[in-house]
Amino acid sequence: MESTLILLKPDAVKANLIGEVLNRIERDGMKIQRLKLFSLTGEEAREFYAEHAGKSFYDRLIDFMISGPIVAAVVEGVNAIGRLRKLMGATVPREAAPGTIRGEFGTGSPQNIIHGSDSPESARREISFFFGGEADE
Ligand code: RTP
Ligand code: MG
Repeated sequence: MESTLILLKPDAVKANLIGEVLNRIERDGMKIQRLKLFSLTGEEAREFYAEHAGKSFYDRLIDFMISGPIVAAVVEGVNAIGRLRKLMGATVPREAAPGTIRGEFGTGSPQNIIHGSDSPESARREISFFFGGEADE
């Protein structure tokens, strides 16, 4: 079993896609283990995406990520990290395969609906970032 961290970005919440996206993940056989809806502060968004600091899209990405509430979830399953990345599709929605979450619902860069951890190390860091200080239910 593997755990990964997903974020439903502000565009997903605005477009009423929370249920649709979580349903796709559950239908794929993975389990929603932790879940919350909240807004990121600028400081949190900059820290979460620190690896992209200085890149051309960084400021737009941060403005977008704090533009409305998001959903964070821990998803568990066999090969959850890779399976999630496959369900998500490529980063840029017009390059994402038909049938993927970003291919169907994404509208641009950075408006691509969903984030998913890209490695076991990222997953550990990101789960701890969003759920680390809270008791496991
Ligand atoms: P994420 O971290 O959100 O799961 O996305 P990712 O791994 O597929 O892509 P990454 O390279 O980590 O980029 C983080 C987010 O920044 C926005 N982005 N915009 N060229 C652009 O305009 C551009 N490139 C990246 C996207 O929202 C991307 O998900
Ligand atoms: Mg990434």
